[in-house]
Amino acid sequence: MRSTKRLRAGLILAAAGAIAATFAMILSSSATAGTTLGGSAAEKGRYFGAAVGTYKFGDNTYMTVLNREFNSLVPENEMKWDATEPQQGRFNFSAGDRIVSHARSRGMSVRGHTLLWHAQQPGWAQGLSGGDLRNAAINHVTQTAAHFRGQIYAWDVVNEAFADGGSGGRRDSNLQRTGNDWIEAAFRAARNADPGAKLCYNDYNTDGINAKSTGIYNMVRDFKSRGVPIDCVGLQSHLGTGIDSSYQANLQRFADLGVDVQITELDVMQGGNQANIYATVARSCLAVSRCTGITVWGVRDCDSWRGSDNALLFDCAGNKKPAYDAVLRELNQGNPIPTTPNTSPRTTPPTTPPTIGPGGCTATVSVNQWNGGFVANVRVTAGSSAINGWRVTLALPSGATVTGAWSANRSGNTGTVQWTNVDYNGRAAAGQSTEFGFQATGTAGVLNPFCAAS
Ligand code: XIL
Repeated sequence: MRSTKRLRAGLILAAAGAIAATFAMILSSSATAGTTLGGSAAEKGRYFGAAVGTYKFGDNTYMTVLNREFNSLVPENEMKWDATEPQQGRFNFSAGDRIVSHARSRGMSVRGHTLLWHAQQPGWAQGLSGGDLRNAAINHVTQTAAHFRGQIYAWDVVNEAFADGGSGGRRDSNLQRTGNDWIEAAFRAARNADPGAKLCYNDYNTDGINAKSTGIYNMVRDFKSRGVPIDCVGLQSHLGTGIDSSYQANLQRFADLGVDVQITELDVMQGGNQANIYATVARSCLAVSRCTGITVWGVRDCDSWRGSDNALLFDCAGNKKPAYDAVLRELNQGNPIPTTPNTSPRTTPPTTPPTIGPGGCTATVSVNQWNGGFVANVRVTAGSSAINGWRVTLALPSGATVTGAWSANRSGNTGTVQWTNVDYNGRAAAGQSTEFGFQATGTAGVLNPFCAAS
């Protein structure tokens, strides 16, 4: 009898503790909740981007929203083949450069879109076939990726090469008629020209498990097994009034092949469900640790290629729509990317053995660097006894400035920065880990975190 009572009292205490811990987490996460799409995504180790057009750069409302909300840009048209190589062998990167330089000046990353596609080809390429087209296409990939080398976080190397419908096969196009291996040839050329960029395959009507996404899945699996360089799959996600119930499972199955996934061109027809559909996309991405970011295809409804669908997160006056609030809420509630180093080419594994602090903890860092900025995830591990709190000291190279952090308090944002636990992640049992992270502008170089228990 007595032991049952004690057990029950213990359970009540444990439950109270769990409730208190949950409450503390809610309190502290709302205390640090981001107030912009980019800021909130960065707190979760991700980006939130928008497709932009340089012809809008003079519009104040547009620029205000863009600069405030997004931490990644993709040119809506400026890096396509017709724009960058209007005559064979004569390249014009000026509009793309303008977008890159705007992004760099604000610490935003850039997606490159797109090296090869059946649409928006220059007239001269449309008139080529066979070996001439193959050579011109590979030269285009090489010259374009080389021009932007070091400045692109991820390239859509090939866009929309699969057929709609149930075949799961390739779309017919002039490029496809040069031979089924045109896609892997493009990926190899892109890797040679810009070894630091993540290389993605990008397509639409792939927003769930269906014949088309399965065709792409099989190609990616084949590429991985044969060592064809591919790092990511872009799901465009141009959505109507519904979303497939297998949306998240589809992201996860690609991630399980060992590639990142990114939502690359999100827009959703306005209707009763717009906010819910946007929320489902954001929630799904945050639930998949290799889903590294979301891009919406335009800033305001009237910037959208979808005419009267009112498919974006801001109205024409730049006001936030209900869908915006829904996305922000999901970003603030979602999971950070775990700190396990991934295998992408931009991830720098810890290069020095972790330093053991006198108080018995170690810290390791993994860095995801792009040109002009990086995200660092720091893992704190208790030594042979439990810790109740920790302090990590990290010397940043000159030129690096912390712009946001999650799950830690910090002193300063340049030079030697001290990080201390927040209330919910100070404790770790012997050998157990907890983590925090931050985003910064500049170059991480080699970071040597020092951990002390407190
Ligand atoms: C669209 C642009 O938004 C339009 O401005 C342009 O006229 C046509 O292309 N899938 C893609 C994007 O990969 O490049 C397309 O962008 C939209 C569909």
